[in-house]
Amino acid sequence: MRTADTKTPRVTRNRWLAVLTLCASVAVIAAGDLTPTSDVASADAVTQERPGFAYYRQSVEPVFTRPRGYPDRTEQAACVMCHVWQTSVRFDLQDMTETQDGWVWTEAQSALNYDMLTRLVNASDPASSKLLRKPLAPTAGGEAHTGGAFWESTDDAEYQAVLGWIEMLPDAQFTPAPTPTLDYEFYRTCVQRVFASPRPGQLPCKECHGGGQAGFAPEPSNGTSWTDAEARRGFQAISRLIVPGNPEQSRWLLKPLHPDGGGSYTHNGVRRWRSRSDPEWQMLAAWVRGERTGSNCSI
Ligand code: HEC
Ligand code: HEC
Repeated sequence: MRTADTKTPRVTRNRWLAVLTLCASVAVIAAGDLTPTSDVASADAVTQERPGFAYYRQSVEPVFTRPRGYPDRTEQAACVMCHVWQTSVRFDLQDMTETQDGWVWTEAQSALNYDMLTRLVNASDPASSKLLRKPLAPTAGGEAHTGGAFWESTDDAEYQAVLGWIEMLPDAQFTPAPTPTLDYEFYRTCVQRVFASPRPGQLPCKECHGGGQAGFAPEPSNGTSWTDAEARRGFQAISRLIVPGNPEQSRWLLKPLHPDGGGSYTHNGVRRWRSRSDPEWQMLAAWVRGERTGSNCSI
């Protein structure tokens, strides 16, 4: 348990500890619950309702369990180690089931994985899909990804396998509604103010989130207010912790929210809001949904 007067470690190091703990807990949880969570009727229905399902199971799902290394460390990680329900990221795979052949996703579980993943694809413009852009190196057109860059280029065999599946999906069914954009001006005037004003007795966010991947609250160089460059950096970091249009799945709004009020189970920092009905939470949620813009911070 951290107290207010201990030195606060960098968030990055903590994340790696969190990943290791996560791996252990995934195994425990999976071993404890062998019942597939599914209401899928029959094997035929599973396949018929899901275009490219057989291909998906054969060529896409193995991508998620394959351990992969990082250039600068010895640990290995597989997508499934981080992408389980605990992380509250939209990409959350089912806990695997133990069988005589080892740990697998049953057909019913694969169907649930498929349904979750089809919300991260865009069949009208496959290359724009989150599922392809997150693991792809930014130098090859990918997006910044906390998990790392795994595909050097779009020629990667895994990239091609996933792309092949997205191309099989009918546009009409698998094109998401356009996502709202986060308004920078509102961030600058109303959102930064939130983490610059800690609740009484609480450490300010910047104590622990001044830099690194989750560095959405950089220390202002002049002591009081952020320069535009600093604000831009913070905005970039916060954007990674937000799912535009979806406050309920935006870690930035979940981590400092009390678990009893629907927040994350764990946060190694402070809880700023008791529940989602907190007016400040509501204001920020409206910004995440694209409904609040400009510089009017009224609650
Ligand atoms: C070390 C942990 C880790 C690993 C390994 C990892 N990820 Fe991630 N991933 C994250 C985190 C944390 C996020 C949320 C923050 C972000 O987007 O960077 C994320 C976000 C994503 C998203 C966006 C989800 C959304 O809601 O928009 C996709 C897609 C994704 N990862 C795919 C993958 C794939 C595919 C793999 C394996 C090839 C993988 N990740 C491996 C940690 C990881
Ligand atoms: C005492 C240090 C500390 C303080 C203060 C703190 N945090 Fe954190 N926060 C952490 C640590 C450590 C992590 C990583 C482990 C975890 O998720 O709990 C984290 C994780 C997060 C994450 C998830 C980051 C990611 O990459 O998934 C968010 C979002 C977050 N904090 C928001 C906040 C907000 C908003 C505040 C201020 C109201 C705040 N934190 C205050 C220590 C702190």
